[in-house]
Amino acid sequence: MTLVPPHGPSRTLQPLLMPAGERAEERTRAARLPAIQMTSRETSDLIMLGIGAFTPLTGFMGEADWRSVCDQLSLGDGTFWPIPITLAAGVGDAGRLAQGQEVALVDGESGELMGTMRVEERYRIDRLHECQEVFRTTDPTHPGVAKVLGQGEVNLAGPVRVLSEGPFPERYPGIYLRPAETRELFQAKGWSTVAAFQTRNPMHRAHEYLAKVAIEVCDGLLIHQLLGRLKEGDIPAEVRVRAIDALVSHHFVPDTCVQAGYPMEMRYAGPREALLHAVFRQNFGCSHLIVGRDHAGVGSYYGPLDAQHIFDEIPAGALELRPLRIDLTFFCSGCDGMASTRTCPHDSGQRLLISGTDLRRMLSQGEPVPEHFSRPEVLAILRDYYVGIAQAAAARGLAAEPALAGTLQQKGGA
Ligand code: ADX
Repeated sequence: MTLVPPHGPSRTLQPLLMPAGERAEERTRAARLPAIQMTSRETSDLIMLGIGAFTPLTGFMGEADWRSVCDQLSLGDGTFWPIPITLAAGVGDAGRLAQGQEVALVDGESGELMGTMRVEERYRIDRLHECQEVFRTTDPTHPGVAKVLGQGEVNLAGPVRVLSEGPFPERYPGIYLRPAETRELFQAKGWSTVAAFQTRNPMHRAHEYLAKVAIEVCDGLLIHQLLGRLKEGDIPAEVRVRAIDALVSHHFVPDTCVQAGYPMEMRYAGPREALLHAVFRQNFGCSHLIVGRDHAGVGSYYGPLDAQHIFDEIPAGALELRPLRIDLTFFCSGCDGMASTRTCPHDSGQRLLISGTDLRRMLSQGEPVPEHFSRPEVLAILRDYYVGIAQAAAARGLAAEPALAGTLQQKGGA
């Protein structure tokens, strides 16, 4: 009984985080190097490289890889890869850097030294082309597109050495797990088939149902939540971790699931992001990824099942992980239980679907939420959070905060 191998030809994890004992010397060296300021997305990608989640990448992508990933979903050497992992040069950076130059990689927000890189390549990209291929749109109001269009036109590429995992290990103890650690945990439990449940939202009954369908057919479940940056209005990871903990401890059989988080930032690239989720879940040791309704989508840019269909469009053997495709799930009074559009024969009037906006209103105004929509232990935590926000807004004299316009929704909610 073995776990699925890591992605790529070597089938071994390739974490790029320097051994702790060598970091002090590298930091001293980095202090004398020109500094490249990274955006939060670039910093989070660097940490993913550091922990081996982006195996087999060795650093930020060069032009051949960038082009081939955009156009053919593979690296230049043919290894499957769905989304460019790149570093944009800041204004003035590209001109002052010679090929072969070593640079320090610094998080632009915290100022923390995160790693070093040898600049092997500088190249100009067509950002609109990247957006069209990866996001299927060039609409600047799409949050992932906005980030690509907001970056410089010149990318810097080369192998990296990672020096820090940022705030994640201290902020999320026991939740922030590296691929080698989840693999060890699964092995210790004797699991070989593990389904990942990707999430950036608290889990309601519809999500619990998806997770439990996976537990029926796999040895175990990894509830794998995003700890990196989200768009404004999404529930903060700290609140979500507590809500999921409450759900798991009250409503799951002990030892059927592990809750963990990863440091990546959401791109909202829908189908392409589902493929990236698959690649790195394989590195974390998962044989399956739950792909539900509008996976990693935003607004109405993607069809509700596009992220499922894309797994049929990639070459056979591109991935060892398999998608676990599940259609819209909900409580149905006709079924008298949880069901999906594949299993429920009743009309939509009998299905309990609540939009994010309505749920937020119910929670912040103390209205009851139907018990079949979400577990009481989860609702209590979310209610506290929303009441706190509403009170803070009232104290500042605001009727409602635009930042609240976000997701709590059950996908496909009315
Ligand atoms: S996201 O990364 O896909 O945006 P989110 O937390 O919104 O994360 O959803 C987590 C997973 O649950 C995704 O696979 C999504 O497709 C699925 N999902 C969410 N709600 C439903 C639902 N009601 N029915 C089916 N799948 C759902």
